[in-house]
Amino acid sequence: MNVLFAAFEAAPFAKSGGLGDVVGSLPAALNAMGHDCRVIMPKHGDRGGSPLTSFRVRLGWRDQYCGIEKAQADGVTYYFIDNEYYYKRGGIYGYDDDTERSAFFSKAVSESIDRLEDYRPDIIHCNDWHAALIPLFLKDRAKTVMTIHNLRFQGACPQWVTGDMLGLENDEEACAALRWHDGVNFLKAGIICADRVTTVSPSYAEEICTEEYGEGLDPILRMRRDALCGILNGIDSEKWLPCATKSELRSELGLEQNESAPLFAMVSRLTEQKGVELVLACADRLIGAGAQLAVLGTGRADYEAELKKLAERQPGKISACIRFDEELSHRMFSGADFVLVPSVFEPCGLTQMMAMHCGSVPIVRRTGGLKDSVIDGSNGIVFDNADADGLWWALRKALEIYDTDKYAEIRENALKSDFSWGRSAGEYIKLYESIS
Ligand code: ADP
Ligand code: GLC
Repeated sequence: MNVLFAAFEAAPFAKSGGLGDVVGSLPAALNAMGHDCRVIMPKHGDRGGSPLTSFRVRLGWRDQYCGIEKAQADGVTYYFIDNEYYYKRGGIYGYDDDTERSAFFSKAVSESIDRLEDYRPDIIHCNDWHAALIPLFLKDRAKTVMTIHNLRFQGACPQWVTGDMLGLENDEEACAALRWHDGVNFLKAGIICADRVTTVSPSYAEEICTEEYGEGLDPILRMRRDALCGILNGIDSEKWLPCATKSELRSELGLEQNESAPLFAMVSRLTEQKGVELVLACADRLIGAGAQLAVLGTGRADYEAELKKLAERQPGKISACIRFDEELSHRMFSGADFVLVPSVFEPCGLTQMMAMHCGSVPIVRRTGGLKDSVIDGSNGIVFDNADADGLWWALRKALEIYDTDKYAEIRENALKSDFSWGRSAGEYIKLYESIS
């Protein structure tokens, strides 16, 4: 199969979270099975390749340059959409014009697919709301799969976008697909127009059809239930191998070398989704019980400030690294005893898998992909309630088993758990075949 993955990020070129990991590893796994999967993404900053072609793209009244560049990584061909006005910036997201940057990406990809030398994709696999207009633009021209990595982000914007930005005000079908309440919703259009819709774990596919997890789109998802399924993410299991010891990690983070203290770590975007408040609420009690805590993350300013304060109050016992640092994340997954993932909701979650593969025991909340990858008392600890009491229940359990045979057994099972892409890649192929 020839499958072109369209996404705003892919490691190693750009990564802000799990989307970058997935688009940076799933195509290589599919290629290893004999397929030709490629990636198309924006050229963020200077991270592109060699020029292939260029043309103009219309976006409403705008007439924009669009270059395509090409590079290889890990046996996968990457195409980069080059437009300095939209993408030559310091970061990947977080700009006032993210809607327009995403609309341009979707339009540019839709107009690129006939210009990729002799490569003819059978399927365009669109990821998250930045790529969600591709199924709309390509409705009768190509088969598309729309993957939802996180339903919280939808690209909701005002009504005027339909005409001014997309030039679709006279296309009734497109207007209907885009319309959402008083405005427009990119992801909704993707869900309506794609041939298949997927999420990144089976449980999340079920959850988003309910009001509790549906982020307002549950009626649309229920309408497309027959086209919707969940396929659990994998990780690059050759990359995420143990790489540091607990003692090395402690020296690096300035934590006391105390053999009797279990070390709990968390690597995460610091947002409400990730249960940061639960960790803040339990931190003092955890240290009081003789443990250590190390957090690596960036995000909400108030969470960052709280974590820094905690670390100042508990030197040698709590460490807070407020930055994005993939190498340190790897050493934390390898050196910690336990890795915390107390998410309020979690479409899949990759840190629990990375942690297990690197030899630390995950503590997760029973939701989404966390529920699909961690089994309580077998390869990790799982708790139910998304509040401080819920997490504290799990932490107490962790403190009890630390340094016992039970801990060794769980760690052994975690190390043995298979999160390589093998099985899930096969499920994607079946899905592609069902529509091609
Ligand atoms: P999400 O995509 O919702 O952020 P995932 O668990 O799927 O959650 O993926 C997060 C990815 O980003 C993991 O690879 C994790 O290690 C990484 N990550 C998050 N924050 C940081 C950070 N501050 N430094 C390094 N890696 C990080
Ligand atoms: C999203 C989700 C996360 C998932 C990742 C990769 O960012 O929040 O749970 O693992 O995408 O699919």
